[in-house]
Amino acid sequence: MNPTIIYYFTGTGNSLAIARKIAEDTNAELIGIPHALKNPHPIPKDASVGIIYPLYAGGLPNIVVRFLKSVSLADAGYLFFVATEGGKMGAPTSQISRLSKAAGHTTDASWWIQMPDNYIPLSAPPQTPEQQKMYDAAKRKAAVISEAVKNREKHIEGMGFAGKLMGLAYGPFIRHLAESDKKFTISANCSECGICSEVCPADNIIIGKHGNHTWHHQCEGCLACLHFCPEEAINIGTKTELRPRYRHPTVSVSDMKQQKGE
Ligand SMILES: Cc1cc2nc3c(=O)[nH]c(=O)nc-3n(C[C@H](O)[C@H](O)[C@H](O)COP(=O)(O)O)c2cc1C
Ligand code: SF4
Ligand code: SF4
Repeated sequence: MNPTIIYYFTGTGNSLAIARKIAEDTNAELIGIPHALKNPHPIPKDASVGIIYPLYAGGLPNIVVRFLKSVSLADAGYLFFVATEGGKMGAPTSQISRLSKAAGHTTDASWWIQMPDNYIPLSAPPQTPEQQKMYDAAKRKAAVISEAVKNREKHIEGMGFAGKLMGLAYGPFIRHLAESDKKFTISANCSECGICSEVCPADNIIIGKHGNHTWHHQCEGCLACLHFCPEEAINIGTKTELRPRYRHPTVSVSDMKQQKGE
């Protein structure tokens, strides 16, 4: 049987949870995109290749774009994408097909799955009962996707109206994301535990005394640091101070380190 490889990027575990479910069903190898970027290897001939990512402002995260620009997909036998997202916006079909084509393969399938929204500068994440409903529905959709992947089905889910509207903000939003760490503040609750630095997929944080961290301005905007901080010491302005943190219940600090190969 031809191998299946799933590359994933995650900030709070939603995309990893979906990647794990599809990998389990399809017997796929799972590789974190931060790790793959640092350790490039050729795609085996006729492999099924999946890219699982969180939707950012109606488009792909910067690190996923960089990954797609760095690989050759010419030898892949089947190429699929799965977005996880807080709303019901759809998938950025034209961006995906442009980047896939440039990497040497047309997109065979692209799906999206709704998961709890982790973008707390905008709104509080859904509470536990609503989260559970989303996880149950997501698991059902992931099972359908797994079957389609096993059969190498062609299936493209595009963008809805809300996604197209959001897509208008994508360019300016994504261009400024690397420097979005300038907006982070650290409260006096910081215990210097180092977890924010450990989970950061961009190695963007050096821990300093009394919350005086160094930020390298190579931020992916994933909010892993903010959501994983056990003291809830990281905020974006004052907006996030009263909002609960979110992370997928099955995803740990060591899983976050593993996505970058540590
Ligand atoms: C920078 C950023 C931008 C986001 N933009 C969108 C968006 O445009 N539409 C949406 O539905 N969700 C958006 N979200 C929410 C995430 O896509 C969603 O919660 C996703 O499942 C998170 O996956 P992860 O846990 O694997 O990082 C955004 C989240 C972040 C951090
Ligand atoms: S995770 Fe939170 S408490 Fe730990 S070093 Fe980072 S900011 Fe401080
Ligand atoms: S600094 Fe925080 S938001 Fe930026 S990439 Fe690292 S973990 Fe993600």
